[in-house]
Amino acid sequence: MSKRYLVTGGTGFIGSGLVRKLVHAGNDVRVLDNNSRGTTSRLSDILTDIEIVEADIRDRESVIAASRGIDSILHLAYVNGTEFFYSKPELVLDIAMRGMLNVIDACRVQDIGELVLASSSEVYQSPPVIPTKEDAPLIVPDVMNPRYSYGGGKLACELMAINYGRSGFDRVMIFRPHNVYGPDMGWEHVIPQFALRAKDLTSKQPDGIIPFPILGDGRQTRAFCHIDDFIEGVHKILNKGKHLEIYHVGNPEELSISEVADHVIKCFGREVDVRPAAAPEGETSRRCPDISKLRDLGYNPSVDFADGIATTVKWYSDNAHLSPLKT
Ligand SMILES: NC(=O)c1ccc[n+]([C@@H]2O[C@H](COP(=O)([O-])OP(=O)(O)OC[C@H]3O[C@@H](n4cnc5c(N)ncnc54)[C@H](O)[C@@H]3O)[C@@H](O)[C@H]2O)c1
Repeated sequence: MSKRYLVTGGTGFIGSGLVRKLVHAGNDVRVLDNNSRGTTSRLSDILTDIEIVEADIRDRESVIAASRGIDSILHLAYVNGTEFFYSKPELVLDIAMRGMLNVIDACRVQDIGELVLASSSEVYQSPPVIPTKEDAPLIVPDVMNPRYSYGGGKLACELMAINYGRSGFDRVMIFRPHNVYGPDMGWEHVIPQFALRAKDLTSKQPDGIIPFPILGDGRQTRAFCHIDDFIEGVHKILNKGKHLEIYHVGNPEELSISEVADHVIKCFGREVDVRPAAAPEGETSRRCPDISKLRDLGYNPSVDFADGIATTVKWYSDNAHLSPLKT
C-alpha cells in the first residue's frame, strides 16, 4: 500500500537513495533538508515527482508544517562526517536533540502514526560481541571526548524514539546503518579520502609501489555496505519491520583498513605500501553487524566489495574537482 512519507535529510547520500526507492515503489514523498550537506542535484531525476522543503530540522514550526498530511516520517537529518564530531560537537548535539524533539512533536501535532529513525553503529562503540546484535549495550565511553557527540546524540535519539513511541504511535522503528558507501557519499569519510589521495599519488608517481600513509595500524576492521544493498535493507524494514524494534543494516563482510587501501589503489591499477600512523583518539578497532534479524525479513546483501569500490572510486576520481577538501 502506498504511503505519504516525509524524509528528513532527504537530499543527503542515504536519504536521496531512500527517496528514489520510495518514489519508484509508488509512494508520495516530501523531503525536508537544509542542504547543509545534501543537495537537490542528487534527486534531479525525480524532482518533478517529489516535494522539497528547504528548512532546518531545528525549526519546530517548519518541521510541523512539512509534516502536514504525512503518514510516516523517516528521520535522517543529522550532522554526519567523522571530522565534524571532533570540530563541531555542539552543532552535532543541537541538531540531534532539537531535531528529534521537533520530529516527535510533529508526529503528535499532525497525528502521524509511524516514525522511523536513522541511528548508527556508533551507539555501541566497542561492543563485547562481534558480529554485534541489536541488543548490545549502548555506551558513551567518555563525555570529555567530542567524538562521542555523534554517538551520544544518536543514543539519546534512540531513547526518545522508543520511549515517546510507546504510546500514540502505530509503529516506531530504528535502523542502524553500518558504514554505507557508494558514489557521491560525501567527502569526509575514509573511502572518498583514500580515493582522492590515491588519484593524487598515482598521478604524481607514474610507476612502482605507492607508499600510502593511513591513520592507525591498518588492522582496524569495518564492514562496508554498498548503498544499493543498504536501501534494499531499509525498504524491507519499512515493509515488514515491527513496532519498537531496532534493526542493524549492513554487510557483515569485514575488511581491514589496509585491505581497503589495497582495493582503492588497485582501482588505479597499482600496488600499495601501507604506512601506519597514530589513530585518532576514540576510534573503535573492530565493528561488524550481526544482520540475522534483518535477514529474517528477507534481506540479503549481494554487492561484492571489489565491484562496489570500483564504481565508487571511479566516481571520486571523475569528480575530484568538486572536493571541498585538500587530499
Ligand atoms: N552513511 C553512513 O554510513 C551512516 C552510518 C551511520 C549512520 N548514518 C546516519 O544516516 C543518516 C543519513 O546519513 P548520510 O550518510 O546520508 O549523511 P548525509 O550527511 O549525506 O545526510 C544527512 C542530511 O541531513 C541534512 N541536515 C544536516 N543538518 C540539518 C539540519 N539542521 N536541518 C535539516 N537537514 C539537515 C544534510 O544536509 C544532509 O542532506 C544520518 O542520520 C546519519 O547519521 C549514516
